[in-house]
Amino acid sequence: MSSTAKGSAKATVTVTLDGSNRSTTLPLVSGTIGPDVVDIRKLYGDLGVFTFDPGYGATASCESRITYIDGDAGVLLYRGYPIEQLAEQSDFLEVAYLLLEGDLPTPAQFDTFSRGVTRHTMVHEQIRRFYDGFRRDAHPMAILCGVVGALSAFYHDSIDINDPKQREIAAFRLIAKVPTIAAWAYKYSIGQPFMYPRNDLGFAENFLYMLNAVPAEPWQNNPILSRAMDRILVLHADHEQNASTSTVRLAGSTGANPFACIAAGIAALWGPAHGGANEAVLKMLAEIGKPENIPAFIREVKDKQSHTKLMGFGHRVYKNFDPRAKIMKETCHEVLAELGIKDEPLLDMAMEMERIALEDDYFVSRKLYPNVDFYSGIILKAMGIPTSMFTVLFAVARTVGWVSQWKEMVEDPSQRIGRPRQLYTGATERDYRPISDRG
Ligand code: SDX
Repeated sequence: MSSTAKGSAKATVTVTLDGSNRSTTLPLVSGTIGPDVVDIRKLYGDLGVFTFDPGYGATASCESRITYIDGDAGVLLYRGYPIEQLAEQSDFLEVAYLLLEGDLPTPAQFDTFSRGVTRHTMVHEQIRRFYDGFRRDAHPMAILCGVVGALSAFYHDSIDINDPKQREIAAFRLIAKVPTIAAWAYKYSIGQPFMYPRNDLGFAENFLYMLNAVPAEPWQNNPILSRAMDRILVLHADHEQNASTSTVRLAGSTGANPFACIAAGIAALWGPAHGGANEAVLKMLAEIGKPENIPAFIREVKDKQSHTKLMGFGHRVYKNFDPRAKIMKETCHEVLAELGIKDEPLLDMAMEMERIALEDDYFVSRKLYPNVDFYSGIILKAMGIPTSMFTVLFAVARTVGWVSQWKEMVEDPSQRIGRPRQLYTGATERDYRPISDRG
């Protein structure tokens, strides 16, 4: 185990190759909570065999102290603190400090940290010109991915990953600038002037300001909406070794600069099976159109030939309710009430769909429950956020998790370049034949 490992080898697992007298004994290692792991690093050397786990459903890719998920119990802890308590009592910037540094900040620590983030919200003025190169109807995730990847072309003083000071500045720059870049992607798509960040506003308030304000008139914050936005950011901040976080870790393991790593994470998040699901849920509800069409849609989902998924449902880890979905659903009711939206057809549809699905054995037997994306889109739409910006908002929040996981990996003295192997089932060796011989 790595020298920083909290894990302790308490027992062993013996692997014996059938039909041979060859076997090896592997350490069984325990973390602080959660399943033990079999440390298989010497398996290939001892027995000449690999493990096989496409999709890494049963593989611990790293040791981490940041986020813990118990999928069966529907538990999510950030550095040991339950997500329910953080969503209720904390805020996004404090959670960012918690994920990055490992514990809740003292008032002095929080003051220094929040000032550090605030001081990095502006981007180099030439970055504005990148936007002119995109079509107006470019998807904001395409713009976000491109512009964040290009940050390393501007900030040469924070790409040496071996320098702790440069790692810290890169972390501040990414957490602080991604909201600005994201908001400008939206403004560009609607042809409105870019709004510069305001250092007198809180993190979520500032993001809503840059999204919704215009130079022509003063902007008024709605504290309920900025509180809801802040809570949504908290819920999306980190989630263990999900696909985009694993992408960031793999990119970071090569020594790539942090801006390139986060751009890789943004690209991975965009997929509809991952962070793109919130946008896909709204599209799905719109296509269904009205509650009486739900049974036919559910029948289509259950027909494997259709390849139709119930977006916002299911999870690789949660085989119970996603705790974030529960909080999101409560927040949805709060925001709609605050906005005076009595009956939101999309919410009615979503709740009816949830009711039907959770009574249907197809979903119950497969332990498919609403995940974080099922209700988030409905809140965001009610807050006036366009559907195309839903995954962008997910990326704004998850940048904190990605940077925290990247920092943990870079600072692990035992980390090595990630390089999975494979089960090869292609052609065995054969000789080249010139095209004249190929009839
Ligand atoms: C996120 O990993 C993370 O932590 C991600 C995330 C984070 O914070 O980073 O939580 C964010 O990505 C949430 C997930 C958002 N995606 C969606 O809502 C898209 C819809 N969901 C599915 O595509 C699916 O549930 C996944 C991708 C989320 C999980 O895929 P798995 O692990 O391959 O699903 P599974 O093995 O649990 O599926 C078991 C069965 C299969 O059927 P059988 O082969 O057993 O007959 O359930 C079926 C699946 O086909 N199934 C679904 C389904 N999800 C799984 N059937 C219909 N609708 C669905 N949504």
